[in-house]
Amino acid sequence: MERGFIIGSGTSFHASLYLQHLLNKLTGFHVTAVPASEFAEWRPAKHAKYFIIGYSQSGESSDIVEAFKVAKAAGVKTIAVTNTPGSTLTRISDACIVTRAGEEKAVAATKTFDVQLAAALMLAHELAGKHTGELERAAEAAERVLRAESEVRSLAERYVKAEHAFSLGKDSAYPIALEAALKLKEAAMVHAEGFAAREFLHGPVQLADEATPVLAFAPSAEAFKGSLKAFEKIAQYKAPLILVGPGAGEVAGYAAHRVEVQGVEGDAAAIPLVKFAQLFAYHLSVLRGLDPDKPTKLTKVVKY
Ligand code: AGP
Repeated sequence: MERGFIIGSGTSFHASLYLQHLLNKLTGFHVTAVPASEFAEWRPAKHAKYFIIGYSQSGESSDIVEAFKVAKAAGVKTIAVTNTPGSTLTRISDACIVTRAGEEKAVAATKTFDVQLAAALMLAHELAGKHTGELERAAEAAERVLRAESEVRSLAERYVKAEHAFSLGKDSAYPIALEAALKLKEAAMVHAEGFAAREFLHGPVQLADEATPVLAFAPSAEAFKGSLKAFEKIAQYKAPLILVGPGAGEVAGYAAHRVEVQGVEGDAAAIPLVKFAQLFAYHLSVLRGLDPDKPTKLTKVVKY
């Protein structure tokens, strides 16, 4: 049984995309990430031989609980990745991985996303027989991002008035770009949209202007290079480009700001990259007079 689906909602869907990338790239499994709310309609009608991995920090979101019930009724094997032992998902799944980040009180998921990424990396590396110490290097790099907090705050001060932002990602940093845009919306109330970097050329570039910062995430200088044309356009239309990654190589000249993530490159760099995104959204939120932990229109668990 080598085919599967990975499902989740919001931040947990972004973790699903990351795991999809790793499993397809590093292992013999062929997986497709689908929003949990779409699973019932998108599941293959004629094949029963697949598995589901479901990401949910709470283990209680109605979309994923319903999707697991549909899967179970069809005889599909289910594996839950959750931060909440004893949750509904742990009870109805065939197997589960509990991430143990501790209770997350803030509405916007942050530390539980970090461990969702770590679980993805561990799972994919285990299945691929790859033991490289990347996760340890990623954790150290994330700590360095946190120690450079004053620089992140200064950057947030420059863009405190921005009403719109774009967030671009390449390779394993694509889900990070989507997550960064979600954090900017939830915590800082900035209208932000995330794309795979070159998708920006297929329409969104029409909205590039001086008032709209563009965050760009990549796991290596090589990956940034693949987005060079997008960065050229961004610079041409004078949108401030913030490059976040382990080295920028030949695209460095297009950046208004560079945030260098040191000590880790490749897939594991997603962890320090998202740490920057979370911290940036946090400071923007506070500087805009908001409470980053309590977005006014959201609930921690979507049970309806
Ligand atoms: C994250 O910041 C959000 N509040 C939201 O997208 C959340 O990730 C989503 O509702 C899924 O929740 P779950 O992981 O508990 O299932």
